[in-house]
Amino acid sequence: MNQEIQKKIKNLKKKTNSVILVHNYQLPEVQDIADFLGDSLDLAMKATKTNADNIIFCGVDFMAESAKILNPEKNVIIPDINAKCPMANMVNPNDLIKLKKENPDAMVVSYINTTAEIKTLSDICCTSANGKKVVESVSAKKIIFVPDRNLGAYIQRFVKDKELILWPGMCPIHHKIRKEELLKLKKEHPSAEILVHPECRPEVIDIADHALSTNGMVNYAKESEINEFIIGTEKDICYRLKNENPGKNFYPIKSAICPNMKKITLEKVLNSLETLEPRVKIKDEIMEKARKPLQRMMEVGQGD
Ligand code: 13P
Ligand code: SF4
Repeated sequence: MNQEIQKKIKNLKKKTNSVILVHNYQLPEVQDIADFLGDSLDLAMKATKTNADNIIFCGVDFMAESAKILNPEKNVIIPDINAKCPMANMVNPNDLIKLKKENPDAMVVSYINTTAEIKTLSDICCTSANGKKVVESVSAKKIIFVPDRNLGAYIQRFVKDKELILWPGMCPIHHKIRKEELLKLKKEHPSAEILVHPECRPEVIDIADHALSTNGMVNYAKESEINEFIIGTEKDICYRLKNENPGKNFYPIKSAICPNMKKITLEKVLNSLETLEPRVKIKDEIMEKARKPLQRMMEVGQGD
């Protein structure tokens, strides 16, 4: 069944001159049809380099919106318009405007996991892959960091000469990962290294060997001499990790599932290629203003 749909997707993709961008947390069968599989930064960069007319974005809303903002002339299609990142909606424009007024000397760094409207109020965006580098690149000594307090606190560990004002947002999936679960897995697999996403709680990051973006995990696992890893992020990244490292073992937190990422199915991707819908729509004036902080982020590039 999946193979039949995957074949149809392949044919239609060619016919419609479409490219399929897929985030590392997508269902395994969706990862299998990717032209490019990656993290938020990598996919945003890939979106600016494609010659395709249509970008089918298998991920959540803010990722597809960023692709559209960076490519206003292309059709950006998200196979399920309800695949929304709840963290992106934890900061609203009025509250951010108020905080900016209270801190006139501060600049705003927004995680890419924000709405387009929040991006219009931001000086620069970042992802988990380049957050530290972006914050270091900002001239202000005071930074309003929205919306992920865990990522903000993680960046603050490395950037001592700037004060980050942290917004009280967080990812419900990463915030739920407990250090006890990771330590239990470590007891079962004592030679394994613990890799976690910086969206995790500080005490989880404290017991990890490395905190990395999702592509950071993929690259690290490939290059490392270690053969076993405990993975503290959305569990389906382990499908990619195992695929690319068949000789290594990956132990996921089985309950770490992002339900919004799972809304994208093969059937919905096929339907999107047949109809070229649903398209990401953002008002022109919002796109114009939201593009600047994204472009500034791209100029900073990958993290170190
Ligand atoms: P990455 O950019 O590391 O893929 O993270 C995106 C995300 O939503 C993590 O929850
Ligand atoms: Fe948003 Fe968390 Fe899902 Fe990432 S894992 S898309 S931050 S809800």
